[in-house]
Amino acid sequence: MQVHNFEKVWLGAALLLIVGFIATIAYGTVGAGVQMVDDSGGEIDPQAVQQSNTGTGFDDPGVVKQNDSHYVVYVVAQQFQFSPGTGDNPIRIPADTRVTFRVTSADVTHGFSIVETNINTMVIPGQVSEVTARFDNPGTYGLVCHEYCGAAHHEMGGSVEVVPQSEYTYNETEVQN
Ligand code: CUA
Repeated sequence: MQVHNFEKVWLGAALLLIVGFIATIAYGTVGAGVQMVDDSGGEIDPQAVQQSNTGTGFDDPGVVKQNDSHYVVYVVAQQFQFSPGTGDNPIRIPADTRVTFRVTSADVTHGFSIVETNINTMVIPGQVSEVTARFDNPGTYGLVCHEYCGAAHHEMGGSVEVVPQSEYTYNETEVQN
């Protein structure tokens, strides 16, 4: 079979495109640090989210230090605020450490998205959404609810303050037992 040179060039170009597309998909899957939220956070009774002394971490939400390089942040989302996160109660965490967010809802489905990062999950009543991240750059990051959750959905937001490790003071009273 005789293949015309011109046709060979186009066959080669088409093959290159296909390889290129596969490479971008592969990069997006493993190279860009994209992580799917799975069910590793576990389940929780949404009615019990805010009852005291349940030992879930959500009865007194906030930052819990595991060790010098790992912090866990318990956040309750409910119409129309994040606790902590909203208003004068921002989430304060140190830079350059592993931070695991455990987020659940006390009422309806919300979203939990930290602006300018790839932290983005739905928050479903009865489920704990668990996302682990590392913030290299100190600063204040916006926090938004990106799932429609009611009349004031558009006002549901907050902030995450990432503080240089040397300036971070951990409030021991927030320790859960
Ligand atoms: Cu909460 Cu939208």
